[in-house]
Amino acid sequence: MSLMDDIRITGDPVLEEVCEPVADINDEIKDLAHSMLETMYEADGCGLAAPQVGVNKRLVVVDCEWGSGKKTPYVLINPEIVETSDELRTTGEGCLSFPGVTVQVERPRRVVVHATNLEGDVMRYEAEDSLLAVCLQHEIDHLDGKTLLDHLGPMARMRVKKQVREAIEAGAKPGDVEKPSKAPKKG
Ligand code: NI
Repeated sequence: MSLMDDIRITGDPVLEEVCEPVADINDEIKDLAHSMLETMYEADGCGLAAPQVGVNKRLVVVDCEWGSGKKTPYVLINPEIVETSDELRTTGEGCLSFPGVTVQVERPRRVVVHATNLEGDVMRYEAEDSLLAVCLQHEIDHLDGKTLLDHLGPMARMRVKKQVREAIEAGAKPGDVEKPSKAPKKG
């Protein structure tokens, strides 16, 4: 089931809460994970965290190879970052909760994450200098009530909030990483 209409936009308090661990991988959690994957693909995103659809649970879905045309979905339940590099790297990040903007964020280049999958197995994910390395950290941030705004100083934070408001007014939808063009349609 698509949850596109449930995607929460920055400013929504659910995006600032620390999420509860998933205690039991029951049908409700499995349905939620599948709906989140469907929603992520529909929005052309590479990751989605449960609080972004209004659910205060430590669950994220990721697929960083989707652009290549082949689906490689990961479901991470109760993910934990167990290792990060000291060296940092800055990349432009979008977020389904920030329609129409891309924000430069500095994060560790390398990350190791442990998480449970839908089958109940504990998995290890390691990524360096890749979209996956960024995406894992970005999505796990969401579970701790952090968003792109938490990586910015006060001035940049105000600027990004304004950019999101303007992009939404211009018709931006979750998944858009820049403000829609106001250019008149050619007829
Ligand atoms: Ni996000």
